[in-house]
Amino acid sequence: MPFAPLAHVPAPEPGEGPWPRNLTREANGEVALAGHTLTELAENGTPVYLVDKDDMVARAKAWVDAIGEGDVYYAGKSFLTPAVARWMYEEGLGIDTASEGELRTALAGRVPGERIGLHGNSKSDSTLKLALENYIGRIVVDSPGEVEQIATIASELGVVAPCLVRVTTGVHAGGHEFIATAHEDQKFGLSLATGAALEVVSEIAKNPHLKFLGLHSHIGSQILDPQGFAAAADAVIEFAGELAKRGIEVHEVDLGGGYGIQYTGEDPAPQTEVEMIAGIRSALESACDKAGIPVPRMSIEPGRSISGPSGITLYTVGATKDVMTDDGVRRYVSIDGGMSDNTRPALYGANYTALLNRESDAELVPTRVVGMHCESGDIVVKDVALPKDVTRGDLLLVAATGAYGRSMASNYNMVRKPGVLAVSDRGTAWLMRPETWEDVLGLFPEL
Ligand code: LLP
Repeated sequence: MPFAPLAHVPAPEPGEGPWPRNLTREANGEVALAGHTLTELAENGTPVYLVDKDDMVARAKAWVDAIGEGDVYYAGKSFLTPAVARWMYEEGLGIDTASEGELRTALAGRVPGERIGLHGNSKSDSTLKLALENYIGRIVVDSPGEVEQIATIASELGVVAPCLVRVTTGVHAGGHEFIATAHEDQKFGLSLATGAALEVVSEIAKNPHLKFLGLHSHIGSQILDPQGFAAAADAVIEFAGELAKRGIEVHEVDLGGGYGIQYTGEDPAPQTEVEMIAGIRSALESACDKAGIPVPRMSIEPGRSISGPSGITLYTVGATKDVMTDDGVRRYVSIDGGMSDNTRPALYGANYTALLNRESDAELVPTRVVGMHCESGDIVVKDVALPKDVTRGDLLLVAATGAYGRSMASNYNMVRKPGVLAVSDRGTAWLMRPETWEDVLGLFPEL
């Protein structure tokens, strides 16, 4: 039986498609990141997440340069460590946090509270207290009960809490249903359509312990078409116009994150930061013109577009086998990680691509890269063409795993979560060390 006529496209070469900017193919056929060969980097153990530091920082700076008058908050949920928070702050970004842990991580990076935002549809009193004690720059109000909750804590601390109100615009954009967030029937935000948003803004505006800064909208993730942002800007500004008539000024509009990236060679290249911002800003300006209000300060919260393409995962190949399918043979290549370090294929049907860390003249065959977990859905790369001679001990590199890889990692099957190594031409440093057996087993009480 011949190999299957299944979809199989080789990964683009370094320097193209979804790879970090400082990934290269060396003369001896090996792949290197910022001058460090993958063989060298694998000495730290595999699986390991690698971050092209200069690429990540450049992507952050590109948003800051593109927005000019406005603010960029890096969405920490995509991947956050104290050092990453610090890099972002030093490039002029604030940090968008969505939990007490993310807030503590940003503070551990010595990011001043004023440059941090706090999100969440279920914020605890202790999280809000920590935020306000650190003079947080903005709290994004997500439900009616939060007005009283935040005001009470602010008054106890003798501070005024700066608030944005997250509105549901009804714009449905983005990839998988689980990552689209602005349709009506889901848990985030306050509806423009039902008047819930208006009620909450009015309450904040008259509460002496709260300061109303403006409006927030996040329509989803992995969005490549700026039309969705433009439609959201339209809806938000129409509401800002209504608020202006009631004497409430919207100083700031945050249009959230969600800017899409390439995961495979077949994915279209996203618009540049400058193009994306220009599209959104012009929609914002014409909506303000129509509503007869001054253009509020604009802010955005990109996560994936900064951390995603600059991060890759390095695995070691274990067992391989050829499996008969209805259409022919498919090669299964098992690696030493899987859905515990990248849950996105299982959770969202996300596609990735993989590259072998050496050159090979062998025939390219339809391959599925699978993890070591006890689930058939433990797939890392569904379809890719890899040389037929891939074998145990080979190093395999998966692209664009920097966002929502380590941040969503688990200890499923009692694996140790991999570390994250920052790599540049100046050297390497752990952003997060790899977990040890003591980390995993140390959680159990002694018998
Ligand atoms: N701002 C808010 C309010 C958000 O909810 C999110 C993402 C972002 C910003 C950043 O979005 P980004 O630019 O990274 O797409 N785990 C999913 C993504 C969930 C995103 C949740 N919110 C994934 O792996 O695709």
